[in-house]
Amino acid sequence: MVVLNFRFLDLVFTVITLGTLLFLFLKYKRTYWQRKGVPTLPSHWLFGNVKDIIRSKKSPALVIGELHQKASNNDDILGIYILHKPFLLLRNAELIKQILIKDFNYFPDRYFTAQSFYDKIGSSNLFTIHNPEWRYLRNKISPVFSSGKMKKVFNLIVETTDSMNTYLEQQFANDVKTRSIQIKDIALRYTTDVISSVAFGIQVNSFDPKTMQFFEKAQKGLQLTVFRMIQVGLMFFFPKFAQLIAGKMLGSSTDYFRKVFWDSMDSRKMTKAKRGDLIDSLIDLKNEKQENDFKFEGDVLVSQAGIFFIAGRESSVTTICFTLYELAKQPEIQKRAREEIHEKLKEHGITYDAFQNMKYLNQIISETLRLYPPAPLIDRVCVKDYKIPGTKIVIEKGTPVYVALSGLHTDPKYFPDPLRYDPDRFSDENKENIKQCTYMPFGDGPRVCVAQRLGLLQTGMGLVSILKNYEVSLDPTYKGGIDVSNIFLTVPDGFRLNLTKL
Ligand code: HEM
Repeated sequence: MVVLNFRFLDLVFTVITLGTLLFLFLKYKRTYWQRKGVPTLPSHWLFGNVKDIIRSKKSPALVIGELHQKASNNDDILGIYILHKPFLLLRNAELIKQILIKDFNYFPDRYFTAQSFYDKIGSSNLFTIHNPEWRYLRNKISPVFSSGKMKKVFNLIVETTDSMNTYLEQQFANDVKTRSIQIKDIALRYTTDVISSVAFGIQVNSFDPKTMQFFEKAQKGLQLTVFRMIQVGLMFFFPKFAQLIAGKMLGSSTDYFRKVFWDSMDSRKMTKAKRGDLIDSLIDLKNEKQENDFKFEGDVLVSQAGIFFIAGRESSVTTICFTLYELAKQPEIQKRAREEIHEKLKEHGITYDAFQNMKYLNQIISETLRLYPPAPLIDRVCVKDYKIPGTKIVIEKGTPVYVALSGLHTDPKYFPDPLRYDPDRFSDENKENIKQCTYMPFGDGPRVCVAQRLGLLQTGMGLVSILKNYEVSLDPTYKGGIDVSNIFLTVPDGFRLNLTKL
């Protein structure tokens, strides 16, 4: 009995000692910024500054944006902890410019990674790839999105909006005037059709039950399961651990996408027809003598189509949904936008020029991207020790650096009355007052979004098609909000609004 008691006490003692050591270790880890003289905010001993993310209470984008806002007005930087891991938040426009643009060679890569032995598609695309391969790839891929190419893509977008219009008209058969419509679902089908054409070189109609297999496979593969949420969270905040999880960027539909891609490549090689899309660029890349050891072949090629699909679809969906939501709340802005759309379509027909001339609509999109940036965290990793200009603080190699767009874009220092939705901030006379690197929904510097033009065109034409024929209002039975389970800033699945046929 005495022996047993002794063993039990031993065990209790060991557990308490280990627990205390772990607690002290974690506490020490969270003095990292203090030791460097970088300002911080109070943090939880285990969760650091992201308790509300771990408890799924708030969207990650908003939590990190709030940290930007809670810091003292004069602080250019803020040290934060994601669990025990130190990240540096940049809060000042000059410093952001220095790090993203002028001193790019210290911060040329993203911290986010999908490096994995199991999934080349996740690890070798333009978004995740590191230098020097990134620079080579970017030079090859950028021409796909030139303004000349966008004029060609425009016609294809118009065809897709036709499919969406037909679908919507069917919802208003039998003289129905007003209906609650699942806007997110419709926008997803629309962007799927645009991006599948640009990225995979195939034409699909996701509104027609006979041809929606591609859409269904995409939805199934990219479904936000608990496993995928954990996987994406690790990719952002703990990329080394993400490598251990054998998740795939294109999820369970990877084999399907791979087959579609290679079928498209083969048929393009046979017909030799040039469309100026991604497939053409990849055929050139494959045939070219390469300047480094990296091989542009196999899944590395599929990977480029894959990232266009992932990065290009939801970002525009989010922008379409939040824009319509704001216009539903503000009928005056909606009316002005519709009048402009009708006027420009009358003047130019449905053309690229008509869209370029819709100034107010473009201001509206810019204002939506300010308040609801779909990719809310701009991240980089420091690749060699970097002394912050004008200070003694050295950012150590390997440190992740963030710009929290939801904080920066609503910082009263840069945007007066920041929470008010006001497209006139982007009017010709007012936009001059927006300081460089305070508004950057597409990022900035050499790693800025490669497809900004396409993102704007796709979003804009989706909005034109809906607003020209329907009035948008809130559906009083729907309580929407922001999707808390998604690391990107977006509306929940099932997001809907009332449409009234004009
Ligand atoms: C409203 C639409 C869009 C928004 C708001 C958006 C936003 C962004 C942001 C914030 C970044 C990171 C930039 C940085 O780190 O500085 C990015 C990168 C990127 N985006 Fe977009 N994007 C949009 C549309 C698209 C589309 C349509 C595509 C492709 C079809 C695309 C493909 C990419 C790629 C490949 C990168 C990585 C670029 C590189 O590292 O070189 N995006 N985007």
